[in-house]
Amino acid sequence: MQIHSSIPDLRAALRNRGRIVFVPTMGNLHAGHIALMTQARAHGDTVVASIFVNRLQFGPNEDFDKYPRTFAADCEKLAAAGVDVLFAPTEADLYPEPQAYQVEPPAIKDQLEGAFRPGHFGGVATVVLKLFNIVQPQVALFGKKDYQQLMVLRNMTRQLALPIEIVGGDTVRADDGLALSSRNGYLSAAERAEAPRLYRVLSRIRDAVRAGERDFAKLEREAAAELDGHGWKTDYVALRQQADLQVPQAANAQLVVVAASRLGATRLIDNVEI
Ligand code: PAF
Repeated sequence: MQIHSSIPDLRAALRNRGRIVFVPTMGNLHAGHIALMTQARAHGDTVVASIFVNRLQFGPNEDFDKYPRTFAADCEKLAAAGVDVLFAPTEADLYPEPQAYQVEPPAIKDQLEGAFRPGHFGGVATVVLKLFNIVQPQVALFGKKDYQQLMVLRNMTRQLALPIEIVGGDTVRADDGLALSSRNGYLSAAERAEAPRLYRVLSRIRDAVRAGERDFAKLEREAAAELDGHGWKTDYVALRQQADLQVPQAANAQLVVVAASRLGATRLIDNVEI
């Protein structure tokens, strides 16, 4: 696996490499990331991963400084997964001057995750557009665990006519249902034992909706109450339309239930498609 940190070096390495498939990450790789790398292989000739902890998408009181950085272990995992090229820029490589030109996503940026993480989706969209311009992939993969992120990036790609196919990868879960996440590493043993409740309450909502329950507000309220009754602090549990994450309007809309809740100092998100 080749590793490049400078933009010109990466561009030179990607000349004449056929169809490029790109998986951007912030490192601290787990089985969910590795599943995306394996999936990527089927979409083209050269698989490129990136590792960059993007300051622009973290709020001032968020975990940018303590975000786990495990570069050597990540490189081993990527090489074992058959990744061809890793782009691992420093901040000076990617942001040599303050990033004054930024992507401003539409109103969805202030809803759900965006309501609790002001500026987050603008920071994500800005770095991903920049990475797309550097790597120039034909295909890019993102995990469905960050459901709203995937939607924002799909819409950005379509509206700006970027010649890139966006592919979503299924969430990978631990045996007890907890969605794999770099932030799971922050959980104490007791919190880790409690954490699978999030997936359980979302699965229960899925089952209730499938069984015909249409009082979505009640389902959302009960789920949040169950979490909070077990020591969580829930930001939202919301049943939304898969296509645009808006409140369900059409009776036959495909739905997804998305949630974010804090267990101790750790904020976990998850979602279940219905
Ligand atoms: O999902 C992530 O790890 C990040 O938000 C991404 C897409 C790599 C942008 O920094």
